[in-house]
Amino acid sequence: MHPAGGSCRYRNMDMSDYDAVLDLWRVSGFTIRPLTDTREGIERLLVRNPGLSIVALDGELLVGCALGSHDGRRGFLQHVAVSPASRGLGIATKIVDICLERFRALNLGWVHLDVVEGNDVAMSFWQRIGWGPRDELTRLSFCLLD
Ligand SMILES: CC(C)(COP(=O)(O)OP(=O)(O)OC[C@H]1O[C@@H](n2cnc3c(N)ncnc32)[C@H](O)[C@@H]1OP(=O)(O)O)[C@@H](O)C(=O)NCCC(=O)NCCS
Repeated sequence: MHPAGGSCRYRNMDMSDYDAVLDLWRVSGFTIRPLTDTREGIERLLVRNPGLSIVALDGELLVGCALGSHDGRRGFLQHVAVSPASRGLGIATKIVDICLERFRALNLGWVHLDVVEGNDVAMSFWQRIGWGPRDELTRLSFCLLD
């Protein structure tokens, strides 16, 4: 086990984490979505999916997070990020392990996530911890925003 991955404290995300999580997403280069990444949007996700979103704390400092959700059949992970200064220490691996444990407890068969084209670090990370593409599937989406 990497030292910081093991020495961080991990707990369920709650709304008191929102500002720090938003900072982490911004510094991680995520697009902050209108509606769904607002305080109201994140609160809605947390209320609908108790115990599936996890944060990592190094002392008082929030250094990692993942949003987990499910629709009753499949699980979803989104916005998995670790602070630049804390990367490479096993923190994301530990966060994802906790999420998977929670998904298993809900008897979900698959967990899905999206990786933005060209995010090679993310692809290396996910493949290293056992995730892979579903070559037989193509994701189609419909945007509800005007
Ligand atoms: C991807 C990310 C979450 C990984 O977090 P992390 O805490 O540094 O990851 P871990 O330390 O648990 O790494 C586990 C394994 O992933 C791989 N990995 C992690 N970072 C890597 C990098 N920069 N280059 C290549 N492989 C990497 C390694 O194989 C590593 O295992 P090892 O240290 O034993 O070699 C982090 O880099 C990040 O926040 N990136 C920006 C946000 C992002 O792109 N998120 C993913 C969206 S899909």
